[in-house]
Amino acid sequence: MELIITKKELKKRLGRAGNIQSIGFVPTMGALHKGHLSLIEQAGKENEIVVVSIFVNPTQFNDKTDLEKYPRTLETDLQKLKGTPCDYVFYPDVDEMYPEPDTRKFDFGQLEKVLDGRYRPGHFNGVAQIVSKFFEIIKPDKAYFGLKDFQQFVIIKALVNQLNLNIEIVPCPIIREADGLAMSSRNTRLSPGQRANAAVIPKTLFEAKNLTSRYNVQQLEEWVIKTINKNPYLNVEYFKIVDDERLQPVNDWAEPVRKVGCIAIHCGGVRLIDNVIFN
Ligand code: PAF
Repeated sequence: MELIITKKELKKRLGRAGNIQSIGFVPTMGALHKGHLSLIEQAGKENEIVVVSIFVNPTQFNDKTDLEKYPRTLETDLQKLKGTPCDYVFYPDVDEMYPEPDTRKFDFGQLEKVLDGRYRPGHFNGVAQIVSKFFEIIKPDKAYFGLKDFQQFVIIKALVNQLNLNIEIVPCPIIREADGLAMSSRNTRLSPGQRANAAVIPKTLFEAKNLTSRYNVQQLEEWVIKTINKNPYLNVEYFKIVDDERLQPVNDWAEPVRKVGCIAIHCGGVRLIDNVIFN
């Protein structure tokens, strides 16, 4: 495994002249956990070469404090990557990725106007900026995205279509802690009390899956929000049941679409997201 900090060096290593059969790419912002490692394992099974990027991308943070407090743990990340199929760790700094400001504005239509897109203006534009830069440098055959960030996965698929890139976007299942909390780098910022109470989030989402015959869609959304907000540590920003392709609100359980309930919650100063599939 090799640590590379410049685009030039990485491009040199990945030059197709070397006869590489396939490149799998796992973009991360570091503070690696088992969720990331599962993506890397899958990439290793399906590709000859695996590239993992570690880069806390400033353009996708609409909250300065969130950016400042985002955990940065390179040494432990590198330890965790040893023994995984990762071949190259790409660890650029901000000047390397943004030698000049990126003024590109992507248009994802309705996909970016709902859920996180509504509450984090500019977030997905920033994600698209950095991911498209990585795709351009690495030219992967497959790129791996965790489904905890469900909207991000849908938007990255749209990005690849818009840019006409021949990259397969591979969805990877949410990996959960023993008490059900979806793994996230942000979990490390929770106090012990917040961490214990955050388990109410998956518990409520899983319970909701069993209540579709008792409540209509809107009632179930309200039930989830009310149940979680009863916990003094938790404050729901949104919970919406949407279809899994266009991310538009579902009004009736009978609609012939795959339904996903997406949630964002504030737990103290930490913002968490999760989701659950209803059928
Ligand atoms: O999901 C993330 O960690 C980030 O949004 C990503 C894809 C690495 C882009 O910065």
